[in-house]
Amino acid sequence: MDKIRKRPVILDGDPGHDDAIAWVLAAAADELDIKAITTVAGNQTLEKVTYNARRIAALLHLDIEVAKGRNRPLCSELIIAPNFHGETGLDGPVLPEPDHKLSDLSAPEMMAKVLRESEEKVTIISTGAQTNVAAMLLAYPELKEKIEMISTMGGGLRNGNWTAGAEFNILVDPEAAYNVYHSGVKLQMCGLDVTEKALVYPEDWERIRSLNNPIAKVVAEWFDFFFIHVSSLGWSGATTHDPCAVLSILHPEIFDIRDYYVDIELNGEYTRGATIADYTGRHSNEPNCACVVDLDREKFVDYLYEACSRYEGWEV
Ligand code: RIB
Ligand code: CA
Repeated sequence: MDKIRKRPVILDGDPGHDDAIAWVLAAAADELDIKAITTVAGNQTLEKVTYNARRIAALLHLDIEVAKGRNRPLCSELIIAPNFHGETGLDGPVLPEPDHKLSDLSAPEMMAKVLRESEEKVTIISTGAQTNVAAMLLAYPELKEKIEMISTMGGGLRNGNWTAGAEFNILVDPEAAYNVYHSGVKLQMCGLDVTEKALVYPEDWERIRSLNNPIAKVVAEWFDFFFIHVSSLGWSGATTHDPCAVLSILHPEIFDIRDYYVDIELNGEYTRGATIADYTGRHSNEPNCACVVDLDREKFVDYLYEACSRYEGWEV
């Protein structure tokens, strides 16, 4: 049987419960080779999300150093989301302490190192503000050709979630997103259009919990906590945002993906951070983004369950 081609990836995020679940999926995938984890302020402060990332790496037995990025957006003040993710940024289950030192490199430096050293093009999976990705692209434009794709969770073509017009990851750093969307690098956007349909219901994560392995237990408890605030907003299931950025590259067949030209609003009083798509192609340039707009929810949950089942007998 042909050896599975392992796709080199960099995970950049702000864990964050859904970032953490996305990273569990990535670490379970035989098709992916996690080369680095980099952190960006967003769900919580940079210090907190970096500590969380290092604990997640220990939990998943990842033999990598975490590199921390920017502690604030390129141009604006930081906004954080303790209402969703708690004071630690990853409230809920107890996690192991970090088992690797923090990298001496910054996130953009780590990204550049991985891109330079990789024989194959690298996929960046960005599930937080795009500050680090933008900083890397601005500092090392010659490395764009080493990037296979940037798979992001961010934006929303029809609505926002932090303001009426803007989704949180884009709103945290609109200028960074503008730089990424204008970089010319192949971009896939999992916005709220798909992630608010990627609903995982309590009975779905009870099924995961019943796997009764240490990782499935932690994932179920992350859903327990995350759903507290999400359900208070009226959702009947957990809006499982960041895992879409991983599963849409592993299993694109369960998603509806459309090519559009997308731009970022920087100046609107009510619309700053909005992702605006030209659906018709009449008003702007060639498409710059593969927009993931729908999914087969049941298959999404099945893949989540299947990934968690791979941790049978896991030592924590
Ligand atoms: O709007 C949802 C996004 O913001 C997710 O990435 C979540 O983790 C937060 O970062
Ligand atoms: Ca995130």
